[in-house]
Amino acid sequence: MAPSKPTQLIDRFGRVVNYLRVSITDRCDFRCVYCMAEDMVFLPRKQILSLEEIRFICEAFAELGVSKIRITGGEPLVRKGALGLLQDLSRIAGLNELVLTSNGSQLADMADDLKAAGVKRINISLDTLDPDKFKALTRTGDLAQVLKGINKAKDAGFGRIKLNAVILKNRNHLEVGDLVQFAVEHGIDISFIEEMPLGAVDNHHRGDAYYPSDLIRQDLQQRFALEAIADSTGGPSAYYRIDGGNSRVGFISPHSANFCASCNRVRLTAEGRLLLCLGNEHSVDLKQVVRDHPGDKQALKAAIIAAMLIKPEKHEFNIHEQPVILRHMNATGG
Ligand code: GTP
Ligand code: 5AD
Ligand code: SF4
Repeated sequence: MAPSKPTQLIDRFGRVVNYLRVSITDRCDFRCVYCMAEDMVFLPRKQILSLEEIRFICEAFAELGVSKIRITGGEPLVRKGALGLLQDLSRIAGLNELVLTSNGSQLADMADDLKAAGVKRINISLDTLDPDKFKALTRTGDLAQVLKGINKAKDAGFGRIKLNAVILKNRNHLEVGDLVQFAVEHGIDISFIEEMPLGAVDNHHRGDAYYPSDLIRQDLQQRFALEAIADSTGGPSAYYRIDGGNSRVGFISPHSANFCASCNRVRLTAEGRLLLCLGNEHSVDLKQVVRDHPGDKQALKAAIIAAMLIKPEKHEFNIHEQPVILRHMNATGG
């Protein structure tokens, strides 16, 4: 008898899905201008998955071949019990990588505990090193607190820390060199992200603020030597080595260099919707499945496998038009 193939999730386009991004809360202590409107309304608590339900769903994904789980928000660390959840998830068999995306606001207090809980890597948002601009971009954030958090994360000994910077023309596009310099000095990586039109924002016009990765690269080349490298973290960044050193600069270019052909991921929203693409609404309500069939992992796995049939080929973002996708980024954690 031929040996049975290991379980894998495969979509209609032959893409293997081995990476799950889990938003454990839509709440956040920041209100970044590209992510949210100022007066965001968050989900009522009873509408979101319990920590037990999240764990159960993550176990099912791991049994279906998912080897990387990224916990996101909103800001994941503002959810009560986040640390215990991470501890539980780190023990799931077959999971090689438990990683976190955070705004950094809680890291000064939590970095050591997160490391002990089994988190392997952390991506931290940082769009500027100017305290006033930081306040303007996040509306509520405190740069000093985030910088303290980044230092604590470094001291805690995480594998490659990555900064994420969303670049907006005339807001922070002149800062890319200083941000790269900061990454080099700290021996960490940085990705620059083109803003995506998810949900209505009230602070700027996304088309006018568009600043493509190519321009960022040209700006950086005035100051650093960039060498394209084939490294991949399983995410959408295309990486370059900076000045021959250890730090890498990545470019996440949903508009100027579509990466959907190599998509390996799906997302679980805080309300339990399995979202098959960040830029489309195709989804399956896993909360319903879990609540209709308590403890029945086979039913859950069957729903996940069936969902692969509706994973779209690619996103159709148009930065110059009103967003078609009404959900904001905090619903999916990016
Ligand atoms: P690693 O590669 O694992 O370090 O992480 P990552 O860069 O994929 O994840 P992170 O949470 O740091 O996200 C950085 C940015 O990439 C966010 O703005 C995400 O929205 C964006 N991103 C991640 N996956 C996708 C995707 O499938 N499609 C699009 N359009 N953007 C994505
Ligand atoms: N477009 C691109 N990136 C965004 N992020 C939040 N909102 C948007 C958006 N509209 C980024 C955050 C964080 C990552 C998870 O997603 O800055 O680093
Ligand atoms: Fe919060 Fe991240 Fe959205 Fe900023 S981008 S408001 S830190 S969820």
